[in-house]
Amino acid sequence: MGITYFEQDRIFKLDTMHTSYLIGLADEENFLGHLFYGRRIAEHGLACFLRTEEKPFVPSKNERERISFLDAFPMEYPTHGIGDYREAALRVRSKDGHRVCSLSYVSHVIFQGKKKIPGLPASFAGEGNCSTLEITCRDPHLNLTVVLSYSVFEETDVIARHVEIENEGEDIVILEKAASMSLDMDNRPFEALTLHGSWARERHAERRKLGTGYQGITSRRGESGHQDHPFMALLAEGATRESGDVYGVQLVYSGNYDIHAEVSQFASVRWQAGLEDEDFCWMLEPGQRFYTPEALLTFSHTGLDGMTKNYHSFIRQHIIRGKYKDRKRPILINNWEATYFDFDTKKLLSIAEEASKLGIEMLVMDDGWFGKRNWDDSSLGDWQVNEEKLQGGLSALVEEVNKLGMKFGIWFEPEMISPDSDLYRTHPDWAIAVPGRAPGMARAQLVLDFSRPEVVDGIWKQMEAVLESANIEYVKWDMNRPLSDLGSSALPPERQGELAHRYMLGVYELQERLVTRFPDILLENCSGGGARFDAGMLYYSPQIWCSDDTDAIERLAIQEGTAMLYPLSTMGAHVSDCPNHAVGRTTPFETRGYVALAGTFGYELDVTRIPEEDRAQIPDQIALYHKYNDLIRQGEYYRIASASENHLYDCWQVVSADQKESLVTWIQVLGGAGRRSRFVRLKGLAPEKRYRVEGEERTFSGDSLMYAGLQIPDLKGDFVGKLIHLVQV
Ligand code: DGJ
Repeated sequence: MGITYFEQDRIFKLDTMHTSYLIGLADEENFLGHLFYGRRIAEHGLACFLRTEEKPFVPSKNERERISFLDAFPMEYPTHGIGDYREAALRVRSKDGHRVCSLSYVSHVIFQGKKKIPGLPASFAGEGNCSTLEITCRDPHLNLTVVLSYSVFEETDVIARHVEIENEGEDIVILEKAASMSLDMDNRPFEALTLHGSWARERHAERRKLGTGYQGITSRRGESGHQDHPFMALLAEGATRESGDVYGVQLVYSGNYDIHAEVSQFASVRWQAGLEDEDFCWMLEPGQRFYTPEALLTFSHTGLDGMTKNYHSFIRQHIIRGKYKDRKRPILINNWEATYFDFDTKKLLSIAEEASKLGIEMLVMDDGWFGKRNWDDSSLGDWQVNEEKLQGGLSALVEEVNKLGMKFGIWFEPEMISPDSDLYRTHPDWAIAVPGRAPGMARAQLVLDFSRPEVVDGIWKQMEAVLESANIEYVKWDMNRPLSDLGSSALPPERQGELAHRYMLGVYELQERLVTRFPDILLENCSGGGARFDAGMLYYSPQIWCSDDTDAIERLAIQEGTAMLYPLSTMGAHVSDCPNHAVGRTTPFETRGYVALAGTFGYELDVTRIPEEDRAQIPDQIALYHKYNDLIRQGEYYRIASASENHLYDCWQVVSADQKESLVTWIQVLGGAGRRSRFVRLKGLAPEKRYRVEGEERTFSGDSLMYAGLQIPDLKGDFVGKLIHLVQV
């Protein structure tokens, strides 16, 4: 059992295989305090951690200094207005306009498994040991009950937290902020690691020292975003990729969020993650419950590598669902970079014919097949096939593609509406906008008000009709602009602050309908590249398009940052044509293949027009995919070297669960005179096993490959790469 309550000491102990998390009750007022989170400890009698021996004493002994107590106490879920001047996790407003809230422990339950969070994506118990602790706290003045939920996943060292807030009174309570988790950590100097970027430059890692005060990341875009990522790691001083204490938190949520750390006057660190509160306000009626998104906490004493390992296994086992959860994905060819909007049935079939001969397994028809969409400025919301382009209709096209032995997939952007669309002409009020104020446009489009069930239903009916009309086996769900001008013509004035979160609930509702009604369809999420690559989306789709930047070299940093949290099987990665459409660089076709093999693998080019020497390589690349995909999808991933740090070469490795096999990918970004071979220290091998480099006679022991290193010769040139397959002898 991963959760124990020690009644005499009034301590909860949550244990995973390698970590312990302790919560204690303090004073007669039952304050709930955070005691410890870190490497697993046997002890539970840790009342001393409450620091109640330090002055000031607990309020029952020293009421005149209550506020000094509250401003230093490591509160498990701090509230606003009572004299804890650090950031509150919960901020409410009563019907009288007061904002004071104080929570005390009331009761708790411990049970095996895990409940669903209504309306939200969340982890599930699946196989393995999972137990849940629910601690009920209460503010008797507000009649507000707050349930803190902790699900403990023993094997993967993850604790999933969320909060449920119930109004048990007779008056309305307004929630102004409701974080998913708060964690008051010890006074250790930490560094924060976060992921940042822009369109076509997603998830570049950044590391910086925490200073006194408030520091964090956020999204107010209505999506998790290209710019920041709903994740933060705190690294204890000296922690590296391979060693030291690292704490991770990420949200299972795809909308507005805030994750920050606040270093107090006493150098303690309050760490919080949850819904962003500037665009949030929720009217909680008597009898109603509000559910926060889930936060996934992990701790590793083996550096960032340990954190990555925990998140990868957790996401594979407890977030991703559906038919393709553990399956190899069909190799697809997508026509976006091949044709953009300029295609018809004949063109698509010419691509499919050539692709099928080369071993590609699925044609994906991207943007431009519906309404009058010949450019990006019309028709979103009109999900009817454009028969001028698809002569003979969709089913005829799909039948022809199927006859070639290929599957067929299709693109949608369900959350959007073009002002130039029949949908907008019929329902202008379906767009998110403030009445009387022209909403800001991005990519010439507006966002549909998915807080309204009739809007979600309207789009669903159209999508369902399309998906029923032909043998469609894959859907790419795109989202190409952030939200702005938050206004809903259906919500009453006092509920307008609920729009951003209700919008997300509508998106999740539609994705759930899609995967329930069409369980065999492979869903791939996307958002102008990778602006919505998060654990929330992975609950619906086992893969997400990683970035619109398909340049093999730029992809190194993007995929490195993404793979710090997410398994390789989730990263949409394609070989595209050169000069690369996003950055104009030319790289060898072979290198593009090596980089795409580290993701879902597919093509994004006009296979009828690329150079013959490139086309000729496709069957060999496909053979590599078939040879290595099980290993890449299921194996353990290790980052060996990073071109973002050394500017010369990049290297990652995948090791099979039984450690009998490993694949090392080496990309030489810059060659140069005088550079000789390098030794790279591998990871994750069995020290006592012997491995042969495929294609060579030499064998090496696992320990020499890990501690002395594998010698990689200079490959002569820039942007060149090499796959090294190690097999146990
Ligand atoms: C953005 C996506 O990231 C691209 O792959 C493509 O689907 C375009 N949208 C289509 O508009």
